[in-house]
Amino acid sequence: MADIFFVFFLGAIQALRELPIAINTEAANEQHYELPVEFFKLVLGRHLKYSSALFNSECYTLDEAEEAMLAIYCERACLRDGQTVLDLGCGWGSLSLYIAKNFPNCKITSVSNSARQKKLIEDECRRMGYSNVSVLTCDMNSFEANASFDRIFSIEMFEHMKNYEKLLYKISTWMHADSLLFIHIFCHKTFAYHFEDNCDDDWMARFFFTGGTMPADNLLLYFQSHVSIEDHWNVNGKHYSKTSEEWLKRMDANAERLKPLFHETYGSEAGKWWVYWRTFFIAVSELFGYNDGEEWMVSHYLFKKK
Ligand SMILES: C[S@@+](CC[C@H](N)C(=O)[O-])C[C@H]1O[C@@H](n2cnc3c(N)ncnc32)[C@H](O)[C@@H]1O
Repeated sequence: MADIFFVFFLGAIQALRELPIAINTEAANEQHYELPVEFFKLVLGRHLKYSSALFNSECYTLDEAEEAMLAIYCERACLRDGQTVLDLGCGWGSLSLYIAKNFPNCKITSVSNSARQKKLIEDECRRMGYSNVSVLTCDMNSFEANASFDRIFSIEMFEHMKNYEKLLYKISTWMHADSLLFIHIFCHKTFAYHFEDNCDDDWMARFFFTGGTMPADNLLLYFQSHVSIEDHWNVNGKHYSKTSEEWLKRMDANAERLKPLFHETYGSEAGKWWVYWRTFFIAVSELFGYNDGEEWMVSHYLFKKK
């Protein structure tokens, strides 16, 4: 049985190597990242972290749990003040802005494919007086950094990607001998699977994650031609479960302010999308909470250049 699984797994890995770096990028952008930022300001925590937080024993609020996860990235990546940093898939700037504040001599380049995210980060930098962040809007398929960085971070962007071989090769060209690449993904403990772009009966794939990937915990370890693993951590899925529960609570608590935004964005389908977003947060919470958080979880990886 284990042998059959291994052969199947290797076939799937070969298939990923033949795809573009990312597929259906427009759909993914529309589904999540081009909604008015006010939605995310009212639903996410203070750092606008659109990825799992870490509810360790000292964290009672989502804001604290966001900060705990951001801090652990910097610790695990051995980030030092003064280093150059690339944040791939920067979202609304949770990590870039955290580093800008706590490591004021770091020079940060933040990249995502969403123009709204760039504007929000730039506004926040102006408001906070940070001059050490520059933000680029670019699809990972075509992004070229033309520089090397001491630390490269990517937090929950790899799930939007397919060809990890090509992507990790590209990233390795932006690394020097002492650079480190830190990646945070959500994953299943054993199985990797596609969120099929043409599958009508996969609700998550159709409305929220078209063209995405559910990586297995060990998936990235099969793509070490250009980078090699230095360290690897698992974070129990209950942290993501609680994060998504908090997003749902905020959505419900802010319903009066959010509903007009839904009308602006979805027009006559606003009611349906209100239910879809609630369902999305509930589904994420249930999935990552399943089996005491030991089935689907978050994994962290630290790679160096080969
Ligand atoms: C789940 S969000 C995580 C955001 C942020 N890292 C955080 O933790 O708050 C994924 C990020 O990846 C970006 N992204 C997804 N597909 C991309 C692509 N093809 N090219 C560039 N960025 C992409 C999204 O715009 C978004 O910023």
